[in-house]
Amino acid sequence: MTRRPTRTGTAAALLALALLAGGCTEVTGGVRGTPGAAGLRDPYFPKLGNGGYDVRHYALSLAYDPGTGRLDGTAEITARATQDLSAFNLDLAGLTVSRATVDGARAAYNRAGDELTLRPREDISEGAEFTATVTYSGVPEPITDADGSEEGWLRTDDGAVAVGEPEGSMTWFPGNHHPADKAAYDITLTVPAGLEAISNGVRTERRKGGDGRVTTAWHAAEPMASYLATVAIGRYETAASTPATGGRSLPVLTAAEPSVAAGSAALRGEIPGILARQAERFGPYPFSAAGAIVTEDGTLGYALETQTRPVFPAAAFDRTTLVHELAHQWFGNSVTPATWRDLWLNEGFATYAEWLYTEEYGDVPARTHFERAFAQDANWAFPPAAPPTAENLFDPPVYQRGAMVLHKLRETVGDAAFDEILRGWPAKYRHANASTDDFTAYAESVAGQDLDGLWKVWLYGDGKPAAM
Ligand code: ARG
Ligand code: ZN
Repeated sequence: MTRRPTRTGTAAALLALALLAGGCTEVTGGVRGTPGAAGLRDPYFPKLGNGGYDVRHYALSLAYDPGTGRLDGTAEITARATQDLSAFNLDLAGLTVSRATVDGARAAYNRAGDELTLRPREDISEGAEFTATVTYSGVPEPITDADGSEEGWLRTDDGAVAVGEPEGSMTWFPGNHHPADKAAYDITLTVPAGLEAISNGVRTERRKGGDGRVTTAWHAAEPMASYLATVAIGRYETAASTPATGGRSLPVLTAAEPSVAAGSAALRGEIPGILARQAERFGPYPFSAAGAIVTEDGTLGYALETQTRPVFPAAAFDRTTLVHELAHQWFGNSVTPATWRDLWLNEGFATYAEWLYTEEYGDVPARTHFERAFAQDANWAFPPAAPPTAENLFDPPVYQRGAMVLHKLRETVGDAAFDEILRGWPAKYRHANASTDDFTAYAESVAGQDLDGLWKVWLYGDGKPAAM
């Protein structure tokens, strides 16, 4: 599912070029298709994602053997063609593909770097819905990001944890791995009996096979960017409840590894209360499930706001980080950045949610956080909406200076208009994608005034302003 202006004319232009070049496009079944683009030209990850189609739904069936680390997967991807397609790409890093089909018919496939190209027997017409199935296996290899952190399928002693911001999800399933293409997911996990297998959304099934394995199925109904998909396999202890949150009953499921289960139980119990308060401020909770996954330290070095069920290393499972990752369910997960350049819209808001929390429940007003952030040189390295390289995506300016932009906005437009923006922004772009320009235009429309001066200094300006 993508909600972006369609690039009408591109397919026609390519076709015209191809015809000029000697009519070398394939002609099958009456459709003249061209290959979909191998990337969406993200400013930081130009090859991430693919053009020519829009994924509606992923059905992933994954069997994992913690002993060998081998993953056996089938990805059934339902998509709509956005151009006449002769071939299209999926992003996949490592692993071995053994079979690919499109609408049930064998498709030729090719690997080059992180691109898996499928060439269906017949071209696909623009607007047609199709299903691509890829069967694959192997030992997934994590990705080391430009900033040195590990992501992807991370192996543990008795299982694995999968996280994917910004590009790790391609290490465990083929897909359109740019945040602009959100889709619904059904993730079905088969693991040795005695282990839990947790993922996003609502648990719909749990059955023991005759083979000493257990299969658990998860349904994530609302659109999800692939970087927010997660899997946690291991000896987890789970706690489930359905508290009334924001006027409806919300299934909440938390999971924690045994050594950190007792220590994290009380804070896990605070999730419904925090979500209820955030729903008052940010509008209705956008998803039909909630929860958290708490892992032993040593597997991942940061918490991640995986959709409906954020993942935390035990060392980062504190109230501030919990508030941050839960706020991301609105800011990042429901309203998703149009490109990775817009990441400050995630991290600035989630950081500001921490400031709002201590302003209300602690004794640190947001203004004090703002002043502390203002005083730190690291926050002024670059403007929040322009990290110089992929290595800087998660640096302090994106978080702290992002939150400072919001605080300046609040001081400029006043609390009433700011509260309206906090609720209205996630409402306007609910389950969609949005850019920095979308945000500044929206804020100005609510404020009823031009805010160029504010953006110029706080959002786009190089270096520290002379005055706060
Ligand atoms: N989005 C995460 C957060 O809530 C941080 C992810 C960091 N990822 C990375 N590759 N450095 O703060
Ligand atoms: Zn964050």
